[in-house]
Amino acid sequence: MSRAALHDLHPPVEDLRREVLASLAAEPKKLAPKLFYDVQGSHLFDAITALPEYYPTRTEIGILRGCRDELAELLGPDTVLIESGGGNGIKARLLLDKIDARAYVPIDIARQHLFTAAEALAGDYPDVTVHAVCADFSRPLELPELPEGGRRVAFFPGSSIGNFDANAAIALLERLAGLVGPGGVLLIGVDLVKDKARLTAAYDDVQGVTAEFNRNVLTRLNRELDADFVLERFTHEARYNSDVDRVEMHLVSQVGQQVAVGDTSFNFSAGESIHTENAYKYTPDGFRELAAAAGFDPWREWSDPEGLFAVFLFTC
Ligand code: AVJ
Repeated sequence: MSRAALHDLHPPVEDLRREVLASLAAEPKKLAPKLFYDVQGSHLFDAITALPEYYPTRTEIGILRGCRDELAELLGPDTVLIESGGGNGIKARLLLDKIDARAYVPIDIARQHLFTAAEALAGDYPDVTVHAVCADFSRPLELPELPEGGRRVAFFPGSSIGNFDANAAIALLERLAGLVGPGGVLLIGVDLVKDKARLTAAYDDVQGVTAEFNRNVLTRLNRELDADFVLERFTHEARYNSDVDRVEMHLVSQVGQQVAVGDTSFNFSAGESIHTENAYKYTPDGFRELAAAAGFDPWREWSDPEGLFAVFLFTC
C-alpha cells in the first residue's frame, strides 16, 4: 500500500490571534479568506462547489477533461506536479490519470483535509510519490526534497489566484516560478469577467451554503480565539465591484454592537461590514498581462464554450 509522506510546516496558528486582532482593528474591518478553511469550512467549500449557481468548479473540471490528453503530450515524461491549495485532490486525479507524473505535491493550509486526501490519492496512484505539505501557500515556503524528474508543473486551479490583489498575485506567481524553476510551467485556472448577475449568484446561492461558509469564520474565531460573535447579528453579502472586477464577500453587522475577541473588544455600527473575501475576475488579456509581470510566457490556453472560465499553461 503506497503511503503519502506528510510534511507539516505548521502554518502559524500562533499568528492567528495577532492577524485577526490587526484585521479587525483595520478600517474598514477585514478577515483574510484563508481563515475560512478550518475543517467545517473546508467541507462547506466542497458543498459550494456542487451548487447549481457555482459554475467555476464544474466548468474547470470540464476544461481539464477536454485538455488533459494534449497537456500530457506537452508536459512530457516524469513530471512533478505541485498543487497549491490541493484540497480534495479531485482535479489532480483528473490530470494524473493522463499525464506521466513521478510525484504529486499538494500544498494546503487545511491539515486534516489535505492529509486525508493525500493518503487516499497515494493509495490509488501507487506509481506516484506523494508529498503532502501543510503550509500557507500565500507565504514563502520551502518544499521537501522532491524526486528528480522531468518538468515541474505548478498547478493552481479553482481561480484561487482571484483571492489576491494584483501585487500579491504577482508576488505569489513569482514564488511559484521559483518552485518550478527553469523549464517549469504554471497550469492555472482563472474565472473570467462576465455578467454581474451570474457572478453574484455564484457567491450568494439560494440554499445559503455560501452564507454559512462566510459566517463559519466567526464560529471559528469564537472557538479558537475565545471570541463572542453572535452569528445571527451578521448577514452575508456578495457585491460585485465593477471598478476593479471583483466579487466581494462581506459580513454585515445588523445592529450596533460590541464583540470581544479574547481580551480585546471591537465596536460595530449598524451596517458596518467585515470584508472577508475578494474574488478577482479577469479577461484573458488581463490575466496574461498579470502573469507576464511575474515572468510567465503564454504557451496554451483552454476555455469552455460559454467563456466562463479559462485554464492557462505558461512557461517561465
Ligand atoms: C477558493 C477563492 C476560488 O472565489 O470562488 C467560493 C472561494 N468563496 N464561494 C472563489 C469561494 C465563496 C473561491 N476560491
